[in-house]
Amino acid sequence: MIRTLKYIALVVILASCGASRQTGNSNTTEQSGGNGAASTTSLLSSDYNEPHRPQIHFSPQKAWMNDPNGMVFHNGTYHLFYQYYPDSTVWGPMHWGHATSKDLIHWQHLPIALYPDSLGYIFSGSAVADINNTSGFGRAGKAPLVAIFTHHDPVKAKAKSNYHQNQSIAYSLDDGKTWTKYANNPVLKNPGIKDFRDPKVMWYEPAKKWIMTLATLDHITFYSSPDLKDWTKESELGKDFGAHGGVWECPDLFPLQHNGQKVWILIVNLNPGGPNGGSATQYFTGQFNGHTFTPYQTDTRWLDYGPDEYAGITYENTGDRKIFLGWMSNWKYGQVVPTEKWRSAMTVPRELGLEKVGDKYLVTSRPSPELNVLNSKPTSLQNISATNFNLTKETGKLKGPARLSFTSDKLESFTITLSNDANEKVLIGYDKASNNYFIDRTNSGKVSFEKGFAGRHTAPRFSTSANMDMTLIIDNASVELFADNGLSIMTEIFFPNSLLSSININSPGDFKISSLRFNNMKSIWR
Ligand code: FRU
Repeated sequence: MIRTLKYIALVVILASCGASRQTGNSNTTEQSGGNGAASTTSLLSSDYNEPHRPQIHFSPQKAWMNDPNGMVFHNGTYHLFYQYYPDSTVWGPMHWGHATSKDLIHWQHLPIALYPDSLGYIFSGSAVADINNTSGFGRAGKAPLVAIFTHHDPVKAKAKSNYHQNQSIAYSLDDGKTWTKYANNPVLKNPGIKDFRDPKVMWYEPAKKWIMTLATLDHITFYSSPDLKDWTKESELGKDFGAHGGVWECPDLFPLQHNGQKVWILIVNLNPGGPNGGSATQYFTGQFNGHTFTPYQTDTRWLDYGPDEYAGITYENTGDRKIFLGWMSNWKYGQVVPTEKWRSAMTVPRELGLEKVGDKYLVTSRPSPELNVLNSKPTSLQNISATNFNLTKETGKLKGPARLSFTSDKLESFTITLSNDANEKVLIGYDKASNNYFIDRTNSGKVSFEKGFAGRHTAPRFSTSANMDMTLIIDNASVELFADNGLSIMTEIFFPNSLLSSININSPGDFKISSLRFNNMKSIWR
């Protein structure tokens, strides 16, 4: 049976590769009227059972993936587009891959949405539901989905032109199934800035206009438009604040509420220059008035301190909820991680919130409640003295993904060890002396593919409460740490030679866990 499935999978892979070569680089445009979108198949070309294959995180069936793109909720469906190169497991001519989900957790793979064309590769961007048909793309009362993305011209880029990245649009009248590129692309031409990309567009209701937040090398530029086609520069900011260890990329702008007060969040991804090396997501809090963003702060805050969340942005069209997804890798080593058929995954969806610690607004991240559909029956334990606590004895060995949550009213240093029989391990914990959370993957298995991959990473504890809570989302090749109601976050990937199947909790001090909950989690692919 398995052999038959594998044979079918192989035929599907070959068929989809062939289709992609025939129709590649040929999205429908308004001029041509042809249909170039049909390429990859919606059948699984993988059994999602390969070593290191994430079981509760989105990953492509095959080939290379980076940033999440065009995340929009529309007509009861979550769309996830992503930077995709279908012909290799390393970065190359970028397409927009596409998947949809009804519940944010289980995904259906769809044909590639956008192909490279004569204007270039399809780099990162966003998508909106144009329910008022401001763009005029709608037909017969059907609201268009409009994708706003960067066209990256590789020839001009090679010639070191500063004009090789421009913003373009495409629309869909069948709920995202097929896409037509606008005939007059690009809609926003480059004024001569080397890195001019990753448009994130939202509807700004007070002025009834679209706002585009664009990464422009070392700062952010805001544009506005009545119709997604004509864009006017509003303002720019950022050269003199925040982290500048690398290029500013993939921004986002949205409001969050705190005690009835609206605070605007400006996300700016940065590569390199992250707090634990390589790429990472910083954010600023402030006010936005439709023209300018006035920051409350000039220091850098990181949305996730781990090395493996990047290019993270939020869903459009989800009302007051802000749902965030990042690429679960790092440009330092994303292209050499030891997976064969595909490369990389997305983080779990996270719900963003806002808290005030002292006089600072901090963005919190928590696993979206939708994830709970994957929970199996929990093991619940109370009043544990965690001097050397063998959790596996209570729960049995891990056979796949799991969720571990606990609370403590007496915080001391502690270490949670995930390990296998070969003594490969990932250490996760809290160090009281430095007041840091940490994840240490020094001895986590395959580490030699990148100098510096083996290492220990830290995140400051921001909470000043005596109580502490932690949730770990553990998958075959990753762990995501959410501490103190989402105030301290870390994401880390690893590649053990066999599954990390045991969990031990140890503390040199008198660490007490008041309550603990453990769930095995079901795979999203079965
Ligand atoms: C971020 C990024 C974006 C760009 C895309 C290209 O990871 O560099 O700035 O649009 O990836 O794939």
